[in-house]
Amino acid sequence: MNQITAICPGSFDPVTLGHTDIITRASKMFSKVIVAVMPNAKKQSAFTPEERAEMLSKCVANLPNVEVEIYDGLLADFVDLKNAKAIVKGLRAISDFEYEFQMALMNEKMNKNAETVFFTTRAENLFLSSSAVKAIATKGGCIKDFVPECVHDYIATELAKKN
Ligand code: PNS
Repeated sequence: MNQITAICPGSFDPVTLGHTDIITRASKMFSKVIVAVMPNAKKQSAFTPEERAEMLSKCVANLPNVEVEIYDGLLADFVDLKNAKAIVKGLRAISDFEYEFQMALMNEKMNKNAETVFFTTRAENLFLSSSAVKAIATKGGCIKDFVPECVHDYIATELAKKN
């Protein structure tokens, strides 16, 4: 395998099965994957960056070449900081495309090393988003099919408190 580090960035608020699927697939393609918990200026978060990173760490504990970090800066800078060669993002429906395409182009404009690679989501995760998980769990709905088992109880309990 080529020695290439990839960054899997996201707000992960909270982590879903869609995220862990993309991270797992990236871990098979790149020698090292750094999952970066980053702020998304457009979204209000339910969990602190530390809580999100802790949940992610549990979910990737079985993947030896995956690390989790919190970074409160520009993704384009984080790529160089980590000597990475790729940014991995998951693409669900066409509705993701315009936003992701814009971010990929902006990141590449700021840093020529910031090459974005898109993974198509698995069909079963097409509808899945952290926002949907929050909307369901805050109203007491069942999220067991949407989030990793190891963090399900924590997410469900914390979001139920926010109702
Ligand atoms: O999971 P999300 O919310 O779709 O992730 C978006 C995220 C965090 C990857 C994006 O907002 C981001 O890259 N934030 C870091 C700050 C940054 O670099 N902004 C400029 C993007 S062009």
